[in-house]
Amino acid sequence: MELNIRDLKAGYGRVSVLDGINLDVHEGEYVAVVGANGAGKTTLLKAISGTVTPSGGQILADGTNIAGLAAHRVPKTGIAHVPEGRQVFPGLTVAENLDVGAYLQRDKDRREESRQEIFALFPRLGERLNQLAGTMSGGEQQMLALARALMLRPRLLMLDEPSQGLAPKVVTEMYEALDRIREAGMTVLLVEQNVATALRHADRAYVLEHGEIAMSGPASELADNDEIRRAYLGV
Ligand SMILES: Nc1ncnc2c1ncn2[C@@H]1O[C@H](COP(=O)(O)OP(=O)(O)OP(=O)(O)O)[C@@H](O)[C@H]1O
Ligand SMILES: [Mg+2]
Repeated sequence: MELNIRDLKAGYGRVSVLDGINLDVHEGEYVAVVGANGAGKTTLLKAISGTVTPSGGQILADGTNIAGLAAHRVPKTGIAHVPEGRQVFPGLTVAENLDVGAYLQRDKDRREESRQEIFALFPRLGERLNQLAGTMSGGEQQMLALARALMLRPRLLMLDEPSQGLAPKVVTEMYEALDRIREAGMTVLLVEQNVATALRHADRAYVLEHGEIAMSGPASELADNDEIRRAYLGV
């Protein structure tokens, strides 16, 4: 998917958070938005997925403006959102969680195809189909949340802090899985506080500060930028 965000404004009640964001994710690209606590990263993804209503600007998904579209209509446009904090249904099994993700896919064969692709990507999920999601480890739950989003066969995958609260080894696993998803042709928009990891994996990145884009460019260039290194990489 090609995503073009133009002068996007959004907030909560009278509090403005996003102050005119311009951002592009080209077809097949892997883009990261990094920034400190409270910069507005989650609000940006929520505005795209319709859980926060923009107060201005445009969100063009393959040229169609979806700004203000109701949240339940957004998945049909091909956009999947893995929200902050591993939101799986704890009382449902792994298999049931995946079924929930596939609700838009009525074709049984296609659904099975998605399941098999996901088990190839995350073998552990395939081995734990009957386990209650709430009893899985943090890393397994994050993988399940991602897998559930993939069941939609999205054309744009959005992830909010997939590394949050995970051990370094699990973070590595998570990002390797994302690399493979991306190599299969997915367009990815990632939001991260873990700036070093995000810049190592993404093609391009935007730095969000107080609701505005402070800097943008190829991820490798930003990782070498002195200002970024001081402010976000602790060097
Ligand atoms: N539901 C809400 N009602 C009011 N203000 C909110 C709400 N959600 C977020 N905010 C405020 O909006 C600002 C941006 O929050 P947001 O969650 O988008 O930041 P973030 O960059 O995702 O931060 P973090 O890295 O901590 O997840 C913050 O000042 C926050 O307090
Ligand atoms: Mg956030």
